[in-house]
Amino acid sequence: MLKNIKREKWGSKIGFILAAAGSAVGLGNIWKFPYLAGENGGAAFILIYLFSVIVIGLPLIYAEIVIGRTTNRNPVGAFVSLSKNHPFWRLLGFLGVIAGFAILSYYSVVAGWTIGYIIEAIKGTFYSFSSPTDAANHFNTLIGNSYWNVSYFILIMILTMSFVYFGVQKGIELGSKIMMPLLFIILLVLVVRSLTIENSNLGLSFLIKLNWSAVRPETFLLALGQAFFSLSLGMGAMLTYGSYMDKKDSIISSGFSVVTLDISVAILAAFAIFPALFAVGMEPNAGPGLVFHTLPIVFAKMQGGYFFAILFFILLALAALTSTISLLEVITAYFVDEKGWSRKKAVIVFGSFTILLGIPSALSFNVLSNLTINSLNFFDLIDFISSNIFLPIGGLLISIFVGYFWGKEKSIANLKQGSESFFDKFYWFGNIWFFFIRFVSPILIFLVFLRSLGII
Ligand code: PHE
Repeated sequence: MLKNIKREKWGSKIGFILAAAGSAVGLGNIWKFPYLAGENGGAAFILIYLFSVIVIGLPLIYAEIVIGRTTNRNPVGAFVSLSKNHPFWRLLGFLGVIAGFAILSYYSVVAGWTIGYIIEAIKGTFYSFSSPTDAANHFNTLIGNSYWNVSYFILIMILTMSFVYFGVQKGIELGSKIMMPLLFIILLVLVVRSLTIENSNLGLSFLIKLNWSAVRPETFLLALGQAFFSLSLGMGAMLTYGSYMDKKDSIISSGFSVVTLDISVAILAAFAIFPALFAVGMEPNAGPGLVFHTLPIVFAKMQGGYFFAILFFILLALAALTSTISLLEVITAYFVDEKGWSRKKAVIVFGSFTILLGIPSALSFNVLSNLTINSLNFFDLIDFISSNIFLPIGGLLISIFVGYFWGKEKSIANLKQGSESFFDKFYWFGNIWFFFIRFVSPILIFLVFLRSLGII
């Protein structure tokens, strides 16, 4: 049974939207989405991505939010309460908390690089590069330095912990209300700069011309996987944020806003990057090195690049930080709800544990680089297990739980709360949503999962 303790809540509907958009908008949008689009046909990939978000992202984000809001609990407590303490579903909640812990530990290492790169940009280091190879070498020297890597990682963790420490309203919500608008402003400034650069039309046409020849069957799976990760699905981050939502607020419109913001940032990031990139004569298909190897050269070559480079890495750091906050909040909520810990104690204890778990990831590029399992270093391994295994399994089980165990009547009734007028008009919406959750999402997520394991 649910204990009736006083639980924290968002101060406003927009508080939830910005915090959840903060979780969704992250390195996935600004680092990964543009390079995926660059490698997979530009506009064609963007279209496939939009399709993926509609079929997989939207139904699942609604499912997670409604589970959280109905139970007012962290992932473990939520599944325990809805399944009447069934051990299997309790395990699903744990999977989420553990995935949060694991993702936080390596994601913060990359988040640390973004802060390190703000400093590099300020120092003007990029002006000494004449080719992407120079930039790549410099990047490898930096991450090859264990002090550099570990210090920035710890710095990000401390920043993350300070926001979560002050609670849902005074920490996470307030932080998101400042950081998210700032992020949008910076992004818009960068888009305008990129579009006004001479010869920006080359990059622009790459982004709006449908190039289906670069689309392979696996592009669809990549896009589905990206939609999933980008919306922070499968590990209970949206569920936990949903658990602080008021029953009077509409899940339909809040969830829709989060998804729209997430897509917009990903697409705008591509518009901020490619026109400038093409204008200085670089190739769009640099892959994962795009942000740290290619962009520094773009900045070094463009007018005002010094200033825009600093802005760009601040943008990345803000995006990463609002995501790490949501990851730590999942773990914190578990200890607060289930173990009766104070928030402050949970943050300090589990923030410190995450630092311990993350240190081997930070050392994977230097002192521990020879420690590999199946040619994956520690960082790659944690990334692989959490993003390619835990998240898809989590998402699959969440849709199965809602579709087959919680059931249509209860889930739709809870989804309706706060969106009554929407459901009056679109009375069929609940059925369509449920159909997607019960039949479409499990199949698609299963395919993404097989692909992540390299089976298809
Ligand atoms: N959505 C974040 C991104 O795009 C990553 C993330 C995944 C955050 C899962 C929280 C939970 O970078």
